Amino acid sequence: MNDPIVNFVKELLDQYPKWFSESGHMDLAQMTTRNYPYTSLFSPIQINRLTLKNRIVMGPMGNIDMAEEFGRPSNKMIQYFGDRARGGAGLLTSGLIPISQTVDPTVTERGGQSYFPRIDSSRTVYSGWRDLAETVHAYGSRFFIQLTAGLGRVGSPESLLTKFQMPVSASWNPNFYIPGIPCRPLTNRECRIIIKAAGQAAADGKAALIDGVYLHGHEGYLLEQMTNPAFNHRKLGRFANWQNFGLDMVKEIRKRVGPNYPIMYRIDLSLALNETYGKRMEDVASLKKFKKERTVAQTLAYMVNLVKSGVDMFDVDLGCYDNWWLPHPPNSMPSGCFLPVARLVKEYFAHEKVFSNAGLPVPIVAVGKLGYPDLAEQALRDGEADMIMLARPLLADADWPNKAFAGKVKDICPCIGDQEGCINEFVEGGHIQCSVNPRTGYEDVLSRDLPQSASPKNVAVIGAGPAGIHAAVVAARRGHKVTIFEKNDRVGGMLVPGSQPKIKYEVKNYLAYLEHQLEICSQKYGLKVELNSTVAPESLKGKFDAIIIGIGGVPVAPKLPGIDQPNVIQAVDLFRHPELAASAKTVAVIGAGAVGCEVAQFLAAEFGKQVTIVEMLPTVLPGVCTANRGHMIHELERMGVRIWNCTKQMSIEGNQVHISRNASSTVPDPYITWTPLLPENIANPFARAIKDEYEDQTLDADLVVLAMGLRPVRSFYEDCIKSQAAPEVIQLGDAFQIGRVFEAVKAGSLVGRNL
Ligand SMILES: Cc1cc2nc3c(=O)[nH]c(=O)nc-3n(C[C@H](O)[C@H](O)[C@H](O)COP(=O)(O)O)c2cc1C
Repeated sequence: MNDPIVNFVKELLDQYPKWFSESGHMDLAQMTTRNYPYTSLFSPIQINRLTLKNRIVMGPMGNIDMAEEFGRPSNKMIQYFGDRARGGAGLLTSGLIPISQTVDPTVTERGGQSYFPRIDSSRTVYSGWRDLAETVHAYGSRFFIQLTAGLGRVGSPESLLTKFQMPVSASWNPNFYIPGIPCRPLTNRECRIIIKAAGQAAADGKAALIDGVYLHGHEGYLLEQMTNPAFNHRKLGRFANWQNFGLDMVKEIRKRVGPNYPIMYRIDLSLALNETYGKRMEDVASLKKFKKERTVAQTLAYMVNLVKSGVDMFDVDLGCYDNWWLPHPPNSMPSGCFLPVARLVKEYFAHEKVFSNAGLPVPIVAVGKLGYPDLAEQALRDGEADMIMLARPLLADADWPNKAFAGKVKDICPCIGDQEGCINEFVEGGHIQCSVNPRTGYEDVLSRDLPQSASPKNVAVIGAGPAGIHAAVVAARRGHKVTIFEKNDRVGGMLVPGSQPKIKYEVKNYLAYLEHQLEICSQKYGLKVELNSTVAPESLKGKFDAIIIGIGGVPVAPKLPGIDQPNVIQAVDLFRHPELAASAKTVAVIGAGAVGCEVAQFLAAEFGKQVTIVEMLPTVLPGVCTANRGHMIHELERMGVRIWNCTKQMSIEGNQVHISRNASSTVPDPYITWTPLLPENIANPFARAIKDEYEDQTLDADLVVLAMGLRPVRSFYEDCIKSQAAPEVIQLGDAFQIGRVFEAVKAGSLVGRNL
């Protein structure tokens, strides 16, 4: 069993880019019903003494700002889980709940306030947990709480400024966000305090009607910092053996909850840092420390010991913060990316005859982009895993399980993997939401069923992008008489060009979902979709009670010499007509925002072009979720795409682009993915000033693709207002302010709800 696993991780990572073009891997990543009925997904399974009604586990997702500031789950959190239980998942899990408030300064804020739920503090919090558990039980689902030893080096270093306390870790390790800030090693006493706290939290959870505990042992959080030799360099004491902290914690929990209570453990088979960064592990100071990561064989051996100590089930993934696109796989990662990981563990356990304390085989849960019922069912049938974990797919559609069971798969709203509404909202200071599901995180205030309008209106929606479609669909369902006017021959707006690259398959799926919603609304509610239809404000006057304008934006083009040459095109046009790049060998992409980088990836990966991205700013993909950003940059580098930041485009002459490039050594390396960009409101005391040393240079490019963003088109709205075209005129989406799917969907849905 040992030999094949040595190169397992490297081979798997090398395979990912190929999955998009090879048939087989991605065929099931669609909302199809080839494997229906899903008899495997909807079969029961036993975990210790607990029987789960089906094989679907809702993945843990931080319930940030879903609890009172002292930690009691709020109504928002209860309704959020209630909806997912009603949606049919057999097992729900909470997001991480820290138990190390007295030790890890990053898990609380000044004054002891918490943006995490708590189960450590007092009886004050239990009632929230009991209410939550009872709500989940009402639908026949079970609920586990995910306990985390803390954040350690991946916590915010702001604790230094706000509480004058250093962040902690297993050993002296650099902080993830600002590597110049060191994290001090936990003392052995502090380690024992956390272990005791885990036992107490589990006992409290059991008393609060919670069905099991789940340990947060992956992704390089504090439990993993203690249990992975990459981070644990301790020389003395009990915890110098990197297994002991985890094993002691499980034994303590088992001691407190008795033999029958389920304990689940989340682990990564490998941090995959060496496989991700290769030689960089030698060269980059903050990575160098982590070279001696836990091998796959060591992880498997540790897992066997965890079972002996009391663990009943595992879920397994790969990666950590420093290669964040693995544990948080973005749209650019293939579906089912960790199925081979689950299979490897399952086969190992079968080979080693590993059984839990309850004498049962130890279920292995697969995670990672499994939100397609056919794919999930196939994985179970093929024995790749025992259960399927869905995290983001249940944000996108809480009713995923019920719809899959009923075969209403086309009605499932797919996750698009942009991570803007979910994980990125945390980074920006918000609570969990979803780009494609405007109710997620608002279950407490937005009713599940749309209220019927008491006075139905005649509504015109101009523009069938995501904002317009949502406004139209929601309004039509509420009883309004709706017509959408779309100037193109298909609906979708920017989703159409935006779903062209193969790595954007989830956006393509989402577009298919929206088209299906429009079809349903046309049949059931009389919604009319007028394609190829350009309307003018005056033609609408007096005909509608409300006009909703979602006509989007137009691409920005700088006034530069040569910009009108035929070999200069806009990114949206290239996505619509990739043949425009047919004869070009070399391409310059101007702008390193999301669109610019996606164009570069598209041209390099799918057409083998030699691409250079020219960006005026020091940073690439600012504002984009760290995981998505990291993966994109990593892939661009792997394919040899040159990224020239701090570079201004001056003029274009034939196939030469004249630029002015900052040659200073202070210009940041654009390929850095192991340290994130900090949110704008966080100052980095170690940030280096960039010196201006601009030099004129020339870049060969047969084709120049402009990806410099959009600007809103406001004239339609202004003309409607001037001419009093209707009593109500609303503009939304990009027509109001250039944004993402997240903003467009939210605006469309709110406007539709409140008409
Ligand atoms: C918003 C968000 C929050 C998350 N928070 C946690 C967490 O608290 N604990 C954890 O172990 N994983 C967390 N994860 C990771 C997910 O549990 C899951 O492993 C990941 O999203 C991949 O699964 P998916 O493709 O089904 O979404 C989070 C993911 C998201 C999107």
